[in-house]
Amino acid sequence: MSRAHTSGQKVAFLGATRGMGRALARQMAERGDALFLLGRDDEELARSASDLEARGAESVEHAHCDLEDPTSFGPALDAATEALGGLDTVVVTAGIFATQQALEEDSELLARLLRVDFTHSVLFCEQARRRLLAQGGGNLCVFSSVAGDRGRKPIVLYGASKAGLSRYLEGLDHRYRAEGLRVLTVKPGFVRTGMTAGLPEPPFAGDPEDVARSVLKAMDRGDAVVYAPAPWRAVMAVIRHLPRAVMRRVEF
Ligand SMILES: NC(=O)c1ccc[n+]([C@@H]2O[C@H](COP(=O)([O-])OP(=O)(O)OC[C@H]3O[C@@H](n4cnc5c(N)ncnc54)[C@H](OP(=O)(O)O)[C@@H]3O)[C@@H](O)[C@H]2O)c1
Repeated sequence: MSRAHTSGQKVAFLGATRGMGRALARQMAERGDALFLLGRDDEELARSASDLEARGAESVEHAHCDLEDPTSFGPALDAATEALGGLDTVVVTAGIFATQQALEEDSELLARLLRVDFTHSVLFCEQARRRLLAQGGGNLCVFSSVAGDRGRKPIVLYGASKAGLSRYLEGLDHRYRAEGLRVLTVKPGFVRTGMTAGLPEPPFAGDPEDVARSVLKAMDRGDAVVYAPAPWRAVMAVIRHLPRAVMRRVEF
């Protein structure tokens, strides 16, 4: 059985170059994890690797992996497994966002978002979970969103991709937990990152470092779902139970 609840883990990380991924990778580095970064921009990966090494990571290497290109997934995860000498944890924070208006106006952008945030994210996770299960288990931590919890006017399309992703991850947890696969679905609320720059800030907006702390705790506990920042658990409990007639009237 691979290590699951300790520091010093072997982690393959897709999305560590920015935002919540960068904050989470930094906290993993500070506790001495060995990190293998996957991403689409080699220069950004090299820059992030130096930063994480300086923060205490046991080792940091990187390989090319583009969520728009599924042929890159297997080789990237194989390179990570070989370099780390096995895998304890795979983290996926990579994803894209666009407003409802932009997605309604541009069907190519919509197709790309649905591919990256749903279809290709699932294909990547399938490759990751096969490798983790082949070694007896491990953590698969994937960033979905509160946007997938309910059909809402401002995020119909992005929300649909995250709803599909959340449901897939829930199913994986049910199917493979007994074999040692611990799937953690992260559901951030509004978090200040490059992704949300310029968007109006709702109440309970949070910072990537707080999200990262909650995610690490949840992963170490073996939780299946974590809402972060914490108030979003209660906010979404209310929104999930609002009647449709109310959802048709409200604008959030
Ligand atoms: N911020 C929020 O309020 C919020 C709320 C709910 C859910 N989320 C979700 O949380 C996750 C992280 O969000 P964030 O705000 O931290 O985003 P972010 O700051 O924009 O960072 C996104 C990360 O994804 C990577 N990425 C994007 N497209 C990629 C591709 N085709 N191949 C490989 N990597 C790619 C980026 O790499 P590069 O360096 O190459 O650009 C970057 O590391 C996303 O899944 C997002 O949908 C965010």
